[in-house]
Amino acid sequence: MFSAQIYRDRRQALASLVGDGTILLLGYRPSPITHADHTYPFRQESSFRYFFGLNEPNSAGLINAATGTSVMYGHDPDITDIIWEGDIPPLVERAAPYGVDGTMPMQSLAADLLRSNNIMFVPSTRATMTEQLRDVVGVNRPTAEAGTRKLIDAIVALRSIKTAEEIEEIIKATNRTKTAHLIAMAATRPGITEADVVRTMRSDAASHGWIEAYGPIFTVKGEVLHNPFHRNTMSDGALALHDGALLSDLGYASDITRTFPVNGAFSPVQKSVYQTVLNAQTAVIAASKPGVLNSEMHTLALTTIFEGLGELGVTHGDSGEAVAQGAAALFMPHGIGHMLGIDVHDMEGIGETYVGYNSDVVRSEQFGRNNLRLGRQLQDGFVLTVEPGCYFIPALIDRWEQQQQWAQWINFDRLNDFRDFGGVRIEDVVHITASGSAVLGDHIPRTIEEVEAACA
Ligand code: GLY
Ligand code: MN
Ligand code: MN
Repeated sequence: MFSAQIYRDRRQALASLVGDGTILLLGYRPSPITHADHTYPFRQESSFRYFFGLNEPNSAGLINAATGTSVMYGHDPDITDIIWEGDIPPLVERAAPYGVDGTMPMQSLAADLLRSNNIMFVPSTRATMTEQLRDVVGVNRPTAEAGTRKLIDAIVALRSIKTAEEIEEIIKATNRTKTAHLIAMAATRPGITEADVVRTMRSDAASHGWIEAYGPIFTVKGEVLHNPFHRNTMSDGALALHDGALLSDLGYASDITRTFPVNGAFSPVQKSVYQTVLNAQTAVIAASKPGVLNSEMHTLALTTIFEGLGELGVTHGDSGEAVAQGAAALFMPHGIGHMLGIDVHDMEGIGETYVGYNSDVVRSEQFGRNNLRLGRQLQDGFVLTVEPGCYFIPALIDRWEQQQQWAQWINFDRLNDFRDFGGVRIEDVVHITASGSAVLGDHIPRTIEEVEAACA
């Protein structure tokens, strides 16, 4: 864990930004139903973890925004816990590393809140959390909504700027992730299944006690953006797309994608598409710095991809106009990247739009661009992904061809040669610094030569 002072400083900073009232941060309940739930993996609510640290179900914290003092609510072990889970220290001991000013049993929380004025809490996008909030705060307490937006903005402002110790955690997560990617590249070969490779990676991660940041995407059908299945047998000539990452010990994520040839050598056409995506990523990383709009980085990636596909005869015409009208979304219907931290899509449990947009930068409704999770200006201290991709999605190609959508810029006859291509995505984790940006973690094979060497 970080030092107690770090958690105290985080709570004090939050209190100062909010200024007045009682801040309620709830941890998650255990996953399913009853007592033995702990045998299921537990994931803590990330703002609670950020400000209070305790990685246990049935916990909550209150911060007095006027004074910055904090109380941790939790569970003291009873004889049942001891029978089922062994000797657990009392809450006061478990809370001590996080520097709180006091501890209270969870059962007192609702009553304590009844005595508090101006309670602020974060509405959750998760239904069970909404239920928890209803249990402890009540549904229609007029004070409960007051200041909620102020609290959301304060949490997003603080968590968006990563401190040196958070950067270290993200680097640790990324270096673990590098191991998994190298294993996948070395293990992949024609004739085995995607699941064979996933099992090899997971076996290594498990041997270190490393936990996945999210279920890995490992597929020869990379055009399915979040393909969760690992059932395909991989054939000679296909591309494997691997979007997978591990957590650091303190629960910080990474989020890395590499795409590589199943047989170890890119074909000329695969090389061309891959190099285009790599050019997009390189251009975006080079241009990313404080003050730049991430929505413009999205445009830069799309423009690079549209122009690169021009060399293959798939696109033609004015790339600026084609991208502005939305034609390049056929090839990259997702966003260029998102914030990353304790969450892979950092803070988005609070609400994606609060994290990625503000009163100056409003989310676009255009197909493709509407999936950009982070559109606002970059700031010194942000950590985000840069993940351009180029996909050939047969159903989408057919739909656009039938409608002759953007036919002035897209050569559908040529495009149909790519129906079996799959997709390429290259994703790294980038730290915005005062002078520009830096890719976090040890270098993971990325150029065509590096990837082919790692696959050998
Ligand atoms: N791994 C999910 C994403 O790249 O956003
Ligand atoms: Mn990502
Ligand atoms: Mn990813």
